[in-house]
Amino acid sequence: MAKVSVVLGLNYGDEGKGKVSTFLASNSDIALRCTGGNNAGHTVELNGQKIVFHLIPSGILNDKTEAVIGNGVVLDPKVLFEEIDALQELGVDLKKLHISTRAHLIFLYHLVEDKLQEFLKGDDKVGTTARGIGPCYMDKANRIGLRIIDMYSDTFENKLRRNIKNKNQIFELYGFPTLDEEKIVADYLNYRDRLKPYVCDTVSYLHRAIEEDKTIVCEGAQATGLDMDLGDYPMVTSSNPTIGGIQTGSGLGAKDLTDIYGVCKAYASRVGEGPFISEQNNEIGDTIRELGHEYGATTKRPRRCGWMDLVALKYAVRINSITSLALNHLDTIGKLKRAKLCVAYKLNDKLYDEYSDDIIGHEEEVTPIYEDFDTDFDINGQKNYDELDEKAKVYIKRIEKHLNVPVKFIGTGPDNDDMIIR
Ligand code: IMP
Repeated sequence: MAKVSVVLGLNYGDEGKGKVSTFLASNSDIALRCTGGNNAGHTVELNGQKIVFHLIPSGILNDKTEAVIGNGVVLDPKVLFEEIDALQELGVDLKKLHISTRAHLIFLYHLVEDKLQEFLKGDDKVGTTARGIGPCYMDKANRIGLRIIDMYSDTFENKLRRNIKNKNQIFELYGFPTLDEEKIVADYLNYRDRLKPYVCDTVSYLHRAIEEDKTIVCEGAQATGLDMDLGDYPMVTSSNPTIGGIQTGSGLGAKDLTDIYGVCKAYASRVGEGPFISEQNNEIGDTIRELGHEYGATTKRPRRCGWMDLVALKYAVRINSITSLALNHLDTIGKLKRAKLCVAYKLNDKLYDEYSDDIIGHEEEVTPIYEDFDTDFDINGQKNYDELDEKAKVYIKRIEKHLNVPVKFIGTGPDNDDMIIR
């Protein structure tokens, strides 16, 4: 039987999806990325060298694992080739990399537009990663986006020039510097040749792999709270990091997906603007940030930190059909000695133990209802559930009870193998 495991972030990103997907990829034939772009990032250490992956699934580091970038990804070729060059230096076989014909391309004008859009939003800015992700998806929806397959058509250069001219007019209007059309065209004609060996009909490739009973792990990017439809709109990314996005971003159907792992931390964090009901914008949040090293892999921004929110997580578990959980940073909660779990919201004297649209727009008025836990335990590097401190087990059981899914992976330290597998 083919096995397709999906790894999804359940909060606002940075839950440590990389750790779980790296583990799963070590036993997989294919590692797949099919949503978002280089707004995501995770660091893997190999032979003492740190490699940051923004686009290529890190599973490519395993000798036997092929890597696929699916059609739902928005791809900045400059970033892709930086990663390819770094991997080539490490002796990784890049013949194992397959990139969808249908993936949309990010151009320099998308990066400038990202800044312009944020500027125009004023106080309502999203706090994007400024990587051009939103504007690239906007062009995709507006049907002026250019896909990898379009690069090999006779009309590519004309369409690219049209886009650059139109974008430059907008930049000029707002007093933003205009872009050098000739340089962009020359760069992309060069990328077109370099990309050729990797280009693949990934939808057929993945379905053939399923027919051949292969094992696939799909690394999600971003997370449920940042989903354009089901997250905290408008403070979201411009794609669907939830389970539906995995399907449209890969061409895999619902029944192809066998295991859906939801990743969360034993506390919560968020980068950028937007609601965060269990945020601790105080000394506790500062301590969590330092203990958990909560600084962005892509932008290095300090992350906002707070308590784990079981109400938001229950919503995420439901909409993603999560089959089991990965709970990271349980060791960090141990260092805090005491921790809280948000188990309900109170708004206008009404108690909500599950998410409701009543909350939308009123997040600041919500009083989070917490349960308090003794988390005075040292579980650093532990690998065996039975040996886990009883207080840690109480914390885990409370989470499982509320979310009604088992915790399968437990993060017990910063290294990739600091993990309990139940
Ligand atoms: P964008 O995806 O760059 O447009 O940013 C939109 C929002 O999503 C911002 O709040 C970003 O900080 C957030 N975001 C995007 N990608 C990630 C990620 O991989 N981890 C955490 N936050 C992210």
